[in-house]
Amino acid sequence: MPAGSCAIIKVDKNQKGGPAMSSRNKGPYAQHFHLTPEQGLLNDPNGLCYFQGYYHIFYQYNPYATDHSTKYWGHVRTKDFVTYEQLPVALKSDDWFDKNGVYSGGAIVHEDTLYLFYTGNTKDEAGRRTSYQCIATSTDGLHFTKLGPVTEQLPDYTGHVRDPKVWYDATVQGWWMLLGAQRLDKTGDTVAFFSKDLKDWDYRGSIFQFDQPLGYMWECPDMVFLTDEVTGQDKAVFIFSPQGVDPIGDSYHNIFNTTYLVGTWDSQTGRFLPDNADFADMKECDRGFEYYAPQSFVAPDGRVIQYSWMGITWPDQEAAIPTRQDDWIHHLTIPRQLRLVDGKLYQTPIAELEGLAGASQSLAWTSADFRLDLAGRAQRVQVDFETLADWELFLDDNVTVKYQAAQGRLSLARFNWLTGLQEWRHMQLEEELKHLDLWLDASSLEVFVNGGQVVASLRYFAKEPLTRLEGKASADLQAKLVATQLEAHQYI
Ligand code: FRU
Repeated sequence: MPAGSCAIIKVDKNQKGGPAMSSRNKGPYAQHFHLTPEQGLLNDPNGLCYFQGYYHIFYQYNPYATDHSTKYWGHVRTKDFVTYEQLPVALKSDDWFDKNGVYSGGAIVHEDTLYLFYTGNTKDEAGRRTSYQCIATSTDGLHFTKLGPVTEQLPDYTGHVRDPKVWYDATVQGWWMLLGAQRLDKTGDTVAFFSKDLKDWDYRGSIFQFDQPLGYMWECPDMVFLTDEVTGQDKAVFIFSPQGVDPIGDSYHNIFNTTYLVGTWDSQTGRFLPDNADFADMKECDRGFEYYAPQSFVAPDGRVIQYSWMGITWPDQEAAIPTRQDDWIHHLTIPRQLRLVDGKLYQTPIAELEGLAGASQSLAWTSADFRLDLAGRAQRVQVDFETLADWELFLDDNVTVKYQAAQGRLSLARFNWLTGLQEWRHMQLEEELKHLDLWLDASSLEVFVNGGQVVASLRYFAKEPLTRLEGKASADLQAKLVATQLEAHQYI
């Protein structure tokens, strides 16, 4: 669809809390179990937390149009990740310090108060950007009071300093705030502030001890603390979205990519020490097409849960996304639990999503071609491999998942909705393929390999939206395939 022909929705900007939301977005590509805006645009997940009995999920939100012209914080909450309450817009860009956008940030809970941290984006008449790191608080999780900016401007950085992620560090009894930043020489960085009281924030500089340039800007930094399930070591995993990183081999083929480094957080100095001293061990979090700007939080039971935006793409491709005809664009990933296994970040769908499971069908997959109708367009397909061989799975008229046994190489392809061309992502598996877990949702696919060892996600827009799965394999394959229909999220 040409960009100019999409319907831009118009809503009264003064309406309290933005437009009313109903349960679903519209059209053939409407998502069943991914969080979407019912109308308008969604991007990064924000302010993830557990507060007064609810998981709160905020997100970058333009309720007025399917473009990036307005940035508010949209808001839903849930007790079980199956039933959601759509809440009014939490933060609007209606103050001098956030007049051009309430940009991304995180949340913490302290003394029964919810603190939201965000970047107030401002631009002057000449288009020059000044960013303010701001706080808003709430005592009920529904109404928010803005407290305004809390940090000073940084002389060694441009106006691109944003996306505060805050956590409590028991070792030094205070809170760290990480910010994605761009140095004056136009290279990317992450800087830290520290506070003992959430009011006064001391600047502590770059979190890195080495000065190796990487990209021109880093967005949405996140520090995740996990115990490695193999070595038993407590580690810090730094997850960030650097812009301007060139492709290397099979990696970094999207406009922007999200990466991680495993290391140690030094609470005394506010430095992150990667295990291998530099960026050499950096890895892509998701090997698919649009995953970007993830954020995590710690659930009351200790699980680290992450959402990400699905997602970022080139502006001309974004303008051509067919859901714009139905007045909505983009969604989040399903919530994924993060684990560290032998130095590698694993991501698995959180257990609560089992609550969406409906009827299932299964088959013994061998060399015979098969074709399954996956009714309902929301399905989980799990394959357990006993004997490996080359195989291919085809979804609708659009997506291919392919495995080359001799090379141990998994590939994913879809037809680009703008160019009409097939495009591929390739993943060299480090271990033998044992299990594949596909989550299909009308116009998106999330792939989890070997219990989350490798993860890849994509958007796709089938011409004939049926959700039909076909499989082909060479002689030796022995596998069991189970397809389970998934219920839609309920909204109240
Ligand atoms: C990442 C990002 C953030 C920014 C937000 C604005 O997608 O560019 O850096 O805060 O989106 O919507």
